[in-house]
Amino acid sequence: MSIKLENVTKIYQAGEVETVALKNVDLEILEGEVVVLLGPSGSGKSTMLNVCSGLDNPTSGTITIDNEVISEMNSKQLTKFRRDNLGFIFQQYNLLQTLSVKENVEVGSEVSNDPFMVEEIIEQVGLTPNIDKYPFQLSGGEQQRVSIARAVVKKPKIMFCDEPTGALDEENAKEILGVIQKLNETYNTTVVLITHNPSISVMADRIVKLNSGEVVEVIINKDKKDAKEIVWG
Ligand SMILES: Nc1ncnc2c1ncn2[C@@H]1O[C@H](COP(=O)(O)OP(=O)(O)OP(=O)(O)O)[C@@H](O)[C@H]1O
Ligand SMILES: [Mg+2]
Repeated sequence: MSIKLENVTKIYQAGEVETVALKNVDLEILEGEVVVLLGPSGSGKSTMLNVCSGLDNPTSGTITIDNEVISEMNSKQLTKFRRDNLGFIFQQYNLLQTLSVKENVEVGSEVSNDPFMVEEIIEQVGLTPNIDKYPFQLSGGEQQRVSIARAVVKKPKIMFCDEPTGALDEENAKEILGVIQKLNETYNTTVVLITHNPSISVMADRIVKLNSGEVVEVIINKDKKDAKEIVWG
């Protein structure tokens, strides 16, 4: 699925204080594209991801995913749209601690009408030997792979990733990025990935740089690299 932002502004109001987190953003993300969002802390990256994915409403402007204007949907419509089409990975894994790997992934598959096979996705993220373990028995990288499997099992059309490797060491981070890349290549899943680490942008089709809520640069990456080849910054 493609994502189109037209003149999107997001203003947060906290008491007397107004923060303009996004300012007149125009951007189109194509189906099957890997877009990396880069920018300093507070530049509006998470806000952009949240409004793109319907987790939050823009203050003004339009967000369209394929032919659906999600910025005009009510919360019930949005919930259904997100459930049917979108996958999320965050820095925190948000796994259910009392459920095994398999059961955590089943939670993801149960919300879909047409999920992948749970065991197949667990295999793809390399967790078959750990399928009956509980989150506390796994490393950080393994836990993040469970959260990817849970997001992916429902066959999302778009994966939104907010600092998915922020809590991981280099080796685990590259593996996780490899899993996301493979998902994109295998299923043509659109990927929007936020990172603080500019070296990750080598795996993107396009790099979008944000500063103070504005898109300041869009770079087409002509020399897209495999996640394994990332030279960690
Ligand atoms: N719920 C909120 N209420 C008020 N202000 C907010 C809220 N969420 C974010 N902001 C403000 O909006 C701006 C953009 O925040 P955002 O979280 O999008 O930044 P970011 O680029 O994701 O930063 P980081 O790299 O630190 O995660 C910041 O100035 C932040 O303080
Ligand atoms: Mg953020």
